[in-house]
Amino acid sequence: MPPEEPTIIATHNHNVLTTGNGNPVDDNQNSMTAGEFGPILLQDFHLLDKLRHFDSERTPERVVHAKGGGAHGYFEVTADLSKLTSAKFLSKPGIKTPLFARFSTVGGEKGSSDSARDPRGFALKFYTEEGNWDMVGNNTPVFFIRDPLKFPDFIHTQKRNPQTNLKDADAYWDFLSLVPESLHQVIILFSNRGTPYSFRHMDGFSSHTLKLVNNEGVAHLVKWHFKTDQGIKNHSNEEAMELNGTNPDSNVEDLFEAIERGEFPSWTVYLQIMKEEDASKYRWNVFDITKVWPHGDYPLQKIGKMTLNRNPKNFFAEVEQVAFSPAHLVPGIDITNDKMLQGRLFSYSDTHRHRLGPNYLQLPINQAYRTTVAHHQRDGPSTFSQNFNDLPNYEPQSQDPSGPQEQTDDIRAKMSKVQLEGTTGRFSPRKNKGFKPEDDFVQPGNLYRLMKGPEQDDLIKNIVAHMKNVKDQNIVKRQIGLFNSADPEWGKRVQEGLDAVKRPPPPQHEKKA
Ligand code: HEM
Repeated sequence: MPPEEPTIIATHNHNVLTTGNGNPVDDNQNSMTAGEFGPILLQDFHLLDKLRHFDSERTPERVVHAKGGGAHGYFEVTADLSKLTSAKFLSKPGIKTPLFARFSTVGGEKGSSDSARDPRGFALKFYTEEGNWDMVGNNTPVFFIRDPLKFPDFIHTQKRNPQTNLKDADAYWDFLSLVPESLHQVIILFSNRGTPYSFRHMDGFSSHTLKLVNNEGVAHLVKWHFKTDQGIKNHSNEEAMELNGTNPDSNVEDLFEAIERGEFPSWTVYLQIMKEEDASKYRWNVFDITKVWPHGDYPLQKIGKMTLNRNPKNFFAEVEQVAFSPAHLVPGIDITNDKMLQGRLFSYSDTHRHRLGPNYLQLPINQAYRTTVAHHQRDGPSTFSQNFNDLPNYEPQSQDPSGPQEQTDDIRAKMSKVQLEGTTGRFSPRKNKGFKPEDDFVQPGNLYRLMKGPEQDDLIKNIVAHMKNVKDQNIVKRQIGLFNSADPEWGKRVQEGLDAVKRPPPPQHEKKA
């Protein structure tokens, strides 16, 4: 776990108020002036330092997933995975690895409500002895889109209208209705799973297909599942709407208070495992994040348990500054050709440099503190490590045998190989050999039919409550068309629900006489 105490330990007693450079402060109530009633002096470093630091207090919030809470804990392996992966932290049952978890909503700002209808982020940083592995998933097994080129547009429709600065139901459903592959995520989001009771009562998923690679270099395709031991518990739409007003921080509060009470939430961890050679024969494109692998085809295999047992001591230093990236890998865990994942490999570290600066990996919460980090990156804002002292800052070099060397013979340090064919181009999956347009409707349709009566009722109610705000009826028609393609009853019921509600008239202000 990152050291509980700050890495720089003050020699002063904490009771002594000091300036940033450690000089004791004699007066924290009165600025230094020229004469009793005169102007403030430039030499009042304590005042200037305090104001200047305050002026810079805000770092940019995350462009998505801005609102969230987090906690420390550990992951314990409970199965023998040695044939599957060379990752040391997974090499035998009983190994415990410290981790930090952050849960979040996606679209809202840092002060937005925890009970918004939104997927929840489920991000984990495993501090392994071979570096940090980040599992940056959601509480849903699928996503709205399958190409990273669409991500900024998609997110813009979830944010505020550029003119009114209001949430925009037309933009929201316009985009979704034009992107049929979103339907699978839409049905999950508009079930009550879109408004979880708490972070403790929801599952987590890698959503993407990732790889585990063993000591011989053999890869298996895997999907990670974190099943809550607290049981799934959700809010109804009405409860969530009420909480938006009465306690917009309910999920952050619940996690913090449960851990303070010693009720440590846990998740049982499972894998779905597929042989690499089976991927091309499978009914679904395994690199399409809008699809699941039904458990009947690839059953869940239990491999471990994750427990959260320690609250952050400082929200900003830990929860706000933690920086997860799907590109943070360790030997034995690898990426795949999932296009969304490939886009994410770039985006996260890029945003971290913007949000936290080029040395964000030196921050205590992000440090790979269980291994020795050694490279030739130097300097830059906030270099608060020793900057590798006098070690060589270039390579190849012949001057210092203790300088970091590339590991050419270590098969575990290499990325697993991928066989490729064809030409470069921009390829639509819709034009792929074997893709049938109905493919995007089969899994959401199956999920609709699997839902029990009250679950279906809530789904329809939740969709109607949101779609009734759409002004452009062409958008409504197009979205109903997508529901119909998955199951005609689904489309019919949403249409009936919309016909039954009228948009409430805007509030009338009393005219002054
Ligand atoms: C956060 C980009 C898809 C899960 C973020 C952030 C960016 C981003 C820029 C802010 C990170 C930060 O400031 O630290 C993208 C792009 C995507 C994509 C470009 C698609 C191409 C996904 C998907 C998932 C996901 C498919 C889940 C399966 C998360 C989570 C966070 C996050 C959990 C919050 C991490 C935290 O708690 O700090 N994403 N994202 N994202 N994203 Fe994505």
